[in-house]
Amino acid sequence: MDTSNYRPGLEGVIAGISAVSMVDAEKNLLLYRGYDIHDLVTHCTMDEVAYLLLHGELPGKESLAAFCQRVGTDREVPGAIYELFRAMPSAAHPMDRLKAAVALLATFLPEDEPNSRKAERLYAKLPTLVCASWRISQGQEPIAPDPSLCHNANFFHLLTGTPRSDYIADVFNVTQILYAEHGFNASTFAARVTVSTLSDLYSGVVSAIGTLKGPLHGGANEAAMEMLQEIGTPERAATWVREALVQKKKIMGFGHREYKHGDERAKIVKGYAKELAERTGTRLWWEISEIVEAEMLAAKKLHPNLDFPVASVYYLMGLPIPLYTPIFVLSRITGWSAHIIEQLDNNRIIRPGHLYNGPEERSLRGA
Ligand code: ACO
Repeated sequence: MDTSNYRPGLEGVIAGISAVSMVDAEKNLLLYRGYDIHDLVTHCTMDEVAYLLLHGELPGKESLAAFCQRVGTDREVPGAIYELFRAMPSAAHPMDRLKAAVALLATFLPEDEPNSRKAERLYAKLPTLVCASWRISQGQEPIAPDPSLCHNANFFHLLTGTPRSDYIADVFNVTQILYAEHGFNASTFAARVTVSTLSDLYSGVVSAIGTLKGPLHGGANEAAMEMLQEIGTPERAATWVREALVQKKKIMGFGHREYKHGDERAKIVKGYAKELAERTGTRLWWEISEIVEAEMLAAKKLHPNLDFPVASVYYLMGLPIPLYTPIFVLSRITGWSAHIIEQLDNNRIIRPGHLYNGPEERSLRGA
């Protein structure tokens, strides 16, 4: 078997050309449509970044107002979705509930719209789905979306009944922007593969949600928080990591296929994790995280990825752990959709080859 062209996990394989984002791992640079993430988190709201990713340019004042108007008035979902959530086992993972809800929602939405409009609809409705699903699973009534609120404030309103516009809302905005887009990551690639068959945007998004759920990808933010809880105290942290590495366990929230010298997004969120620890007076997760990070660097030369600091930041914000990955979806929907649109603008079915290592040809003749 000639394995010279085989790249396990497609590592190093160039599978497409994209104008949505640029990742330069050597320079620790991440640009969305040419804009550095540092500039975006400093100067923009998630709604502006959503517009940038979906429409290619940052919005002017009027375009932003029109976008927020379209999105704000499109947040309601059909009653059948609430019935679906009530019929599901309450213990089902929120990502599984969301995957089913998007599939059902799609059957109610117009088929013959431009994909950019379909993408805006999902950006508008996903917070309603995530929060209603959670509240129903907790025995609470869902809250109606507020058309007058921006993306982030509406999310807190839908989850708790109270919109936020404080420091926590600012930090949430940063994490939403940093979660919005990241090149040919696994879930985006899954979405591109799905629509490359000329399937529809909604099917691409359902594939992407299923792909993001895994702990090697988006599910790592939940797994990282569970790990911090399992470690429990700073005193146990170093031994815990060393023992886990001896057992060849993956330490969640560390390592990255592209970034070998650190993930710039993680560095940004780490600053907020420290600040939140000070502001809330809860330094436990920060202290454990510092030790885990030092151990991973010393033992494996591995740096934290975005999911590691996000985990403790979301915990200190009071967000339920099972919602961390669905919250990732709320902004990554923009990156997925931008890639789906780009794929279909210049489509060729994505269909790699494989090497065969099964039995030699054999015959049933004469059996
Ligand atoms: N913990 C322990 N060892 C690790 C970790 C980790 N988190 N990540 C990589 N390694 C080790 C591997 O065991 C392997 O070691 P070896 O060569 O001695 O066998 C080496 O580093 C290379 O790792 P791979 O898994 O082959 O790297 P790959 O590029 O295939 O995977 C991935 C990248 C999936 C992110 C990996 O680092 C990982 O599993 N991390 C933990 C899960 C995680 O945090 N995922 C979030 C990714 S970012 C995001 O989705 C927003």
